[in-house]
Amino acid sequence: TDPLEAELLEIALDAATRAGAFLRDGRPEDLGVAATKSSAIDVVTEMDIAAEKLITGLLADRRPQDSLLGEEGASVEGSSGVQWVIDPIDGTVNYLYGLPSWAISIAARKEGETLVGVVHAPVRGEIFRAVRGQGAFLNDRPVRVRPAPELGLALVSTGFGYLAERKAHQAEVVRWLIPEVRDIRRGGSAAIDLCDVAAGRLDGYYERGLNPWDYAAGDLIAREAGALTGGRPGEPLSPALTVAAAPGLFEQLQRRLDELGAWHD
Ligand code: IPD
Repeated sequence: TDPLEAELLEIALDAATRAGAFLRDGRPEDLGVAATKSSAIDVVTEMDIAAEKLITGLLADRRPQDSLLGEEGASVEGSSGVQWVIDPIDGTVNYLYGLPSWAISIAARKEGETLVGVVHAPVRGEIFRAVRGQGAFLNDRPVRVRPAPELGLALVSTGFGYLAERKAHQAEVVRWLIPEVRDIRRGGSAAIDLCDVAAGRLDGYYERGLNPWDYAAGDLIAREAGALTGGRPGEPLSPALTVAAAPGLFEQLQRRLDELGAWHD
């Protein structure tokens, strides 16, 4: 194992585990909305902010020369070439309502490549992790995508944005896709959706409008479990479109989403 990757993994697991305990055990009964972002339903809680501080504090202590990019505003330019991409709570709306599917997502990137990804869903008791080239694991057991079904038999998850116009178009895409697949799920955490593809609990996942902190760790975990990930056909995954599925299904799903215009509003 590459010593840098081993160190980054150990730090990411430590930060995710500590933040997970803090968020799970410290969730106030009367948790409210601390601020809104792009719209009234795009919310931040005091716990998102506190957890990002906890995580970035730990990372800065251990590796002070690294860059940091966090959903709640962390933005530090370091000199080491390593960048941490952090979502302190992916699935904030689930967390706000007390639903179990939310996760801490931490990825370490270097020269544009993700080296390490950790997604920790504390209420589900799950820690997914991957190191580039070394497979993906759920609580220390290797995970693998399930064999690709044809599109018509695929269980596909997706997510929706926070702006009404975008949501209306996303609903239009789903309106066409639903009869063409087994069923659609909307779990509420992109990071967990990608990990559920990795673990064979979903056949595929797609979403328009994610941010790097939503998918950086889950993308590596899905790929290391045998999934293909990307955006529009021939393009890498990006905030415009994120698609993940096992080879065989991936190409079909990507092509159909392209025809349906899932990449625009
Ligand atoms: C959100 C979740 C959700 C997805 C949204 C994301 P957040 O992340 O991943 O599943 O549909 O697009 O913004 O805001 O809870 O960190």
